[in-house]
Amino acid sequence: MKTNERYVVAGGSRLQGRVKVSGAKNAALPILAAALLSSGESIIHNTPIIRDVNVMLEILRRLGVDVEEVLTEDSGRTLRIRSDGLTGPEVGADFTREMRSSIFLMGPLLARTGKIRISYPGGCAIGPRPIDFHLRGLEQMGAKIEERYGFIEASVQGRLVGSEIYLDFPSVGATENLMMAAVLADGKTVIRNAAREPEIVDLQLFLNRMGAKVRGAGLDVIRIQGVKVMGSVEHKVMPDRIEAGTFLAAAAITGGDVTVENVIPEHADAICAKLREMGTVIQEGDDWIRAIGPTRLRAADVKTLPYPGFATDMQPQMMALMAVAVGTSIITETIFENRFKVSDELRRLGANVKTDGRTAVVQGVSRLSGARVECPALREGMALVLAGMAAEGVTTIEQVVHIDRGYQNLEQKLQGLGAQVSRA
Ligand code: EPZ
Repeated sequence: MKTNERYVVAGGSRLQGRVKVSGAKNAALPILAAALLSSGESIIHNTPIIRDVNVMLEILRRLGVDVEEVLTEDSGRTLRIRSDGLTGPEVGADFTREMRSSIFLMGPLLARTGKIRISYPGGCAIGPRPIDFHLRGLEQMGAKIEERYGFIEASVQGRLVGSEIYLDFPSVGATENLMMAAVLADGKTVIRNAAREPEIVDLQLFLNRMGAKVRGAGLDVIRIQGVKVMGSVEHKVMPDRIEAGTFLAAAAITGGDVTVENVIPEHADAICAKLREMGTVIQEGDDWIRAIGPTRLRAADVKTLPYPGFATDMQPQMMALMAVAVGTSIITETIFENRFKVSDELRRLGANVKTDGRTAVVQGVSRLSGARVECPALREGMALVLAGMAAEGVTTIEQVVHIDRGYQNLEQKLQGLGAQVSRA
């Protein structure tokens, strides 16, 4: 994927048809890091073919891990990972800058090798994104942590020690990192005020299939009994609830009729409730959700919250829908300090958005008009694709490399639904 590629989107098509959702990026990334904990081999199905996963695989290879792409299909990729060749412990600056998720390697590498040197992860367009909860929890478990010259060096003599950990905020990454640190620790770890996202439940399932003893993922208290060694595992990554929500939003904003398949409907409850409130008809089956968009959406208010509240990763997409809804909508972003960057770009398409700190006020307009815009980040880029599909004329979206980070075969999936989207 070249970094100067762009999407050209012609507005006016109502999206129609069915689309299969890929494996969840935010489940696959911690699971790939957790594969380091196995003394056998990890077979992981349904990993999405996206940039962030490719970067994580490159990091694992540089650490001496054997990564084999056993099967690649449109639906996703099966990987075979063996980490007995683990050399560790260095994760170079060029990776952590590229991708914050490399921080997930701290827990597993400390648990396996007792040492890691990682460059401080860059923030990105949605805020500074500190890692203090991760570091404090690892210190509580006995890790010695030094931060200097932009690097973090962590080490432990012998094994980490199970501890009682309280998270000031239900951080997804900190919950996952500390779960992975705890599975090979001496004794019992309890993580309180843990994040409850479905991706954490998927990670627990993966770890327990490997021989760990983890209980409580999906609730706010997770208990881990350390074990001595972890064996081979086979696992299928859960479907991506944010990708599913994005395609449902695409049906809503274009007045279309789209069914997303291979999903777990309850993972999208908050998103579907909001789309219904805005006038979208939502039907659900065991593994599919159908959205039928209205001629014109109604305004609604959104407050992002930790799961099961409304997902912050769907907030930029909702701003695009509100931009063309009848009435005024208010967004309150409680998870990230600065996640309204997409409003600058939406204004270039004619949206009427005012932001102040963690609040945005969106006054719906009857039509957006196509223009040249730029992706500030992954989900924000998707918001611009949604807006472009609803706008009059042609919208050019620069820097779609951000979108490639998290969406597999996006333009093919959208074209399959009748969208006029092409990569240039
Ligand atoms: C995960 O990021 C997701 N990424 C994000 O998705 C998602 O937006 C976020 O969780 C919230 O749901 C992955 O799973 C790879 P957090 P993470 O730790 O773990 C603060 C996407 O587009 N915080 O729950 O980094 C932090 O600054 C991405 O797929 C601390 O202060 O999120 C933020 O304000 C975007 N100290 C809040 O907590 C810490 O040590 C939530 O962050 C850690 C976090």
